[in-house]
Amino acid sequence: MDELHMNTKDITALVLDAAKKARKETSGEGGYASRTSIAWPVNCIVGPGLEGAIACESKIGYVNGVKGALIYRGYDIFDLCAYSTFEEVSYLLIFGKLPTSAQLNGFKKELIEARKITETLRMLMGFPVEKMKAMSALRMGTNFLRHEFSYIDQDDHEIDLKSVIGSDEDSIPMETVPRGEKHAIYEFKRKKRRKTSSRHLHSAAGYKSCYSLISGIACIAGAVNRLREGRLPIEPREDLSHAGHLLYMMTGRMPTPAEERIMDISLILHADHGMNASTFAAMVVASTLSDLYFSVGAGIAALNGPLHGGANEQVIRMLQEIGSVDNVKPWFQRAQLEKRKIMGFGHRVYKAYDPRARVLRPMAEYLAASNKEAAKLFKIAGSLEKITVSSLGKEKKIFPNVDFYSGILYQALGISPHMFTPIFAVSRVSGWAARVMEYMQNNRIFRPRAIYSGTFDEKYVPIRNRR
Ligand code: SDX
Repeated sequence: MDELHMNTKDITALVLDAAKKARKETSGEGGYASRTSIAWPVNCIVGPGLEGAIACESKIGYVNGVKGALIYRGYDIFDLCAYSTFEEVSYLLIFGKLPTSAQLNGFKKELIEARKITETLRMLMGFPVEKMKAMSALRMGTNFLRHEFSYIDQDDHEIDLKSVIGSDEDSIPMETVPRGEKHAIYEFKRKKRRKTSSRHLHSAAGYKSCYSLISGIACIAGAVNRLREGRLPIEPREDLSHAGHLLYMMTGRMPTPAEERIMDISLILHADHGMNASTFAAMVVASTLSDLYFSVGAGIAALNGPLHGGANEQVIRMLQEIGSVDNVKPWFQRAQLEKRKIMGFGHRVYKAYDPRARVLRPMAEYLAASNKEAAKLFKIAGSLEKITVSSLGKEKKIFPNVDFYSGILYQALGISPHMFTPIFAVSRVSGWAARVMEYMQNNRIFRPRAIYSGTFDEKYVPIRNRR
């Protein structure tokens, strides 16, 4: 049996070693500030890009940038990687507690059922997917899922417009202080749906849409990869875990236990991360009472940006551009002179080592042990990490983030760079769904302000007199 086929206890040991190292290195960084619930309105110092702004209260996930810690519903990410699975973590994020075995089996059954996306794939194959950016095809796929599984596109579902409250009624004049309205002002009174649609459709904003998107996005990612390779999508199976099924749908071959476990841990690591840009985008769309399919589509659109989700693809390009360990130092010095951002480094919140990178690094190394190309990239990455942290770590708190090693790991699993960000979305859809479902419990449309620094009392000049 080769290295990769070792049973997955070795991988648990890698995670626990990473946990021990992290806890040792950050033991001096104090504990977590426990918070009771917020009494709105709150004071916060806000920087550009809403940096520091408190958008809402949440019990879903906590990121401690100083300690470099990540918590999902009170559980430390290292423990979840060592002992849990992506299905169990998705349940935890959405429902707020670890499931009993009956609850987990029921949840898994829903996810397996939601793998059957025949009509969605038929619609997807009507487009030149092989010529599209994978993230664009993925986002398009969310609209097909919405059409196939929710009644919202059926004629028997109109909103009772009489009950609609214009969004302006909630935006307060610039000069007044936020009221901190406690309860949702918007409630569209949906007409009771006539039971006309024969198909098994569900609301586009309920838990069923969570299952349909968590499974559907994974199957669409698999199909997009196959179509881009000029092949047909693979029929879904019922006998594989979410991670195993994703790899199978992507590569067309059964993953080894080690590959399946490493993909599962990577999906756990990417599932939620506080108010990151894509989660916030998903919540903003949901707050208008749109629906979860459109919210996830907005999340995919935001994640597409290289400052957010697309960095791991850039990391591979960067490591290939460096080309050898000997070239790391001259390359880094040139990058510094050109004020280039090193992809896979730095973070808006983490001013310490990203705990996710702490787990992804040894898993990438594990896979690289039997993959020549990955081994070469891993060596270059290790040397780049050393020189970057020694020059930017102390002074600018620039450390590796989640994207620095994930690309090497995915490439070693047989996934090409154009699918890295879609895989990020396959995982983050659980976090997006959980955060949207939580926020909708006490919804309020997101409507921040902009400070107007323009002019006033301009006189209109007809175009013939303009110079
Ligand atoms: C993710 O929000 C999330 O949680 C996101 C995420 C998630 O799980 O959802 O964690 C996923 O987005 C990971 C980040 C992936 N992106 C990259 O790896 C791209 C490279 N990183 C940078 O673009 C940057 O670090 C950001 C965008 C991630 C964060 O940047 P900030 O906090 O807005 O910081 P900044 O751009 O204002 O930079 C502050 C200083 C600057 O130097 P000075 O002008 O003060 O001299 O730090 C420097 C920057 O030049 N800096 C870097 C750097 N990142 C910041 N210098 C070199 N390389 C970098 N990567």
